[in-house]
Amino acid sequence: KQQLSIAIDGPAAAGKSTVAKIVADKLGYLYIDTGAMYRAVTFQAIRKDVNLEDEVSLQQLVEKMDIDLRIANNQSQHVYINDEDVTEQIRTHEVTNNVSIVAKHKHVREEMVARQRVLAKRGGVVMDGRDIGTHVLPNAEIKVFLLASVDERAHRRHAENLSKGFNSDLEKLKEEIARRDKLDSEREIAPLQKAEDAKEIDTTSLNIDQVVEKIMDLVHQNE
Ligand code: C5P
Repeated sequence: KQQLSIAIDGPAAAGKSTVAKIVADKLGYLYIDTGAMYRAVTFQAIRKDVNLEDEVSLQQLVEKMDIDLRIANNQSQHVYINDEDVTEQIRTHEVTNNVSIVAKHKHVREEMVARQRVLAKRGGVVMDGRDIGTHVLPNAEIKVFLLASVDERAHRRHAENLSKGFNSDLEKLKEEIARRDKLDSEREIAPLQKAEDAKEIDTTSLNIDQVVEKIMDLVHQNE
């Protein structure tokens, strides 16, 4: 059976990773969370006191970073920097609110994209991010662009935070999500954008299963 490449793009907190993981699991494909890679760089830069606007220093930092995405026994994905598990650390507020600064730099992106393409080389992948359909895997057989209103996305993230027992401020979440979308959409290099040939799915009134089903329909149409 043909091993497809599936690109899932969209704004922050649109449910890309949740849906991408389920689709990958159903198909026995590899799930590649490209946002986790940019988060790993951001976490490392903050920890090493690198100025997030200093592209040359960031590039040097990235060159010394092995970033690994591995599946743990319980199927959850773990992220490693030079063999250190940083899965939790890359999800902090501080990283989330700074990652779009790091991700705007050309040299950081070039390096990440090169690594992402190596990971996807053999096909049989579901990759989620911002520029997968437009730039990383322009020849992906299936491209999806997930959309939902800022309100809806903030509400979902808020509920998720509360269910995990974290503090959460809905209004602040709205602001942060909108700010991240703006930075990601307006940056010069490979901004967040729907690929011309991507299928847009507005998830505002859909649940996870319904979104998964829509993507699986696209997969079956392609078989
Ligand atoms: O997907 P996630 O929200 O974890 O992504 C974190 C950030 O990484 C995004 O806000 C964006 O700045 C950056 N990113 C990117 N290109 C990708 C994936 C993520 O610029 N392909």
